[in-house]
Amino acid sequence: MTARIIAVEPFDLVVFGGAGDLAYRKLLPALYLRHLDGQIPTVARVIGVSRRGMSDGDYRAATRKALDEHVAKTDHDPAVVETFLHRLHFVPVDASADAGWDDLRNLLEPGRDRIRAFYLAVAPELFGTICGKLGAKGLTTPNSRVVIEKPIGHDLKSAMEVNDAVGRVFDERQIYRIDHYLGKETVQNLMALRFANALFEPLWNATHIDHVQITVAESIGVEGRGAYYDHAGALRDMVQNHMLQLLCLVAMEPPAHMDADCVRDEKIKVLTSLAPIDDTNAAQSIVRGQYRGGNVGNGAVPAYTDEVDNPRSMTETFIALRATIRNWRWAGVPFYLRTGKRLPIRASEIIINFRAIPHSIFDKAAGAIEANQLVLRLQPDEGVKLCLMIKDPGPGGMRLRYVPLDMSFAEAFGVRTPDAYERLILDVIRGNQTLFMRRDEVEAAWAWIDPIAEAWARSHEAPKPYPAGTWGPPQAVSLIERADRSWHDEVA
Ligand code: BG6
Repeated sequence: MTARIIAVEPFDLVVFGGAGDLAYRKLLPALYLRHLDGQIPTVARVIGVSRRGMSDGDYRAATRKALDEHVAKTDHDPAVVETFLHRLHFVPVDASADAGWDDLRNLLEPGRDRIRAFYLAVAPELFGTICGKLGAKGLTTPNSRVVIEKPIGHDLKSAMEVNDAVGRVFDERQIYRIDHYLGKETVQNLMALRFANALFEPLWNATHIDHVQITVAESIGVEGRGAYYDHAGALRDMVQNHMLQLLCLVAMEPPAHMDADCVRDEKIKVLTSLAPIDDTNAAQSIVRGQYRGGNVGNGAVPAYTDEVDNPRSMTETFIALRATIRNWRWAGVPFYLRTGKRLPIRASEIIINFRAIPHSIFDKAAGAIEANQLVLRLQPDEGVKLCLMIKDPGPGGMRLRYVPLDMSFAEAFGVRTPDAYERLILDVIRGNQTLFMRRDEVEAAWAWIDPIAEAWARSHEAPKPYPAGTWGPPQAVSLIERADRSWHDEVA
């Protein structure tokens, strides 16, 4: 089966931080793959911008190398790489001074009527400055849009400052705040499963669902991003954005349409219905951990404090928390969220745990009856699994068995699962904001996160240690077992 390809309109994409890690690792490979599929019109251009001096030729050579490293061999077609490289240009620009802006304007001018997207793959401190320059130097057009990535602020106050600065130049309908989890195939599939099937929605509530688990486990450490991470920690790096976005998509009411504002209106209602976690209940609702040295896979890895070279660091690399949503649909249904670095494997799942049957007609010999589970696997292999009780096949007595109806997307469709950035960059060009966060959403997420961070800061309690290569501190297990539940064991 082949995916349906619809070409987008001509565009100029200007990538600030065009010679940086995100551009080489994610953005340029994603654009190449869309080019390979013929989705990008011939005249479209990608313009890398950074302070560093580089010619078009240098940029194309560096991108060729990045594609060699980050595009799978099966998708690597040297002739197509060459045509892709011809779209690329490079303009040295000093974001906080005047150098280079006129060159950028001159390059863009012939395409003034095209869609113009500014992707700010730079430190968030520069978002406001760059937007200010774009406005002052006359680079914005009615058809312009700007893309920014997390972290959008460090708390509610700083997030509002960033949003104000960007909002002084761009309208909200021109601002694309990326949360790359929303571009993941299974995450979008969650909406398809919920709202394109009659099967689940009638059961999607406190009457039929016992609890929900969302796990995003990583085996990697901080990967050279120690300076940022030690300041952020798992709460700000993963929970404020990716985990809360996943929770919103599981918990939201059916939107009136698949239209950006309808979807985002429903997500924000979930965020504002989250019961606060603060000094009064943080200790019972959250476990924070920090990894010590250990073994992940076959290799020994150092402790977090050594990795970031900060022996006194109190930053958490693991969080398990229990959230509750105060509305009619979810009253009494806990949402257990768990994320961490240096866990045994990379695995992300959303698990909907249905309630047990009210009464069993089977005798003891039939065996235990497990409650149904719907498992959405986000990574590494994307797919959906529905766990059901069936009769054990054979002529013997009635024995029951718990089996998964398992669908791996790669096997079922035989197509490569696109990277989140392929989808998201083209949505920016198409002008579709559905999978991007609106200002009020980001701020509502911070409004829920801030009291947690403040409670920790006041408690002065160090995160609980866990050896790298394990599933976090034992307290994370107690958090869920206290309520007679357990972490989904395919992950744990
Ligand atoms: C990023 C975080 O947003 O998401 C990283 O800053 C994390 O710390 C990454 O590793 C995880 O993304 P993915 O797509 O690999 O699950």
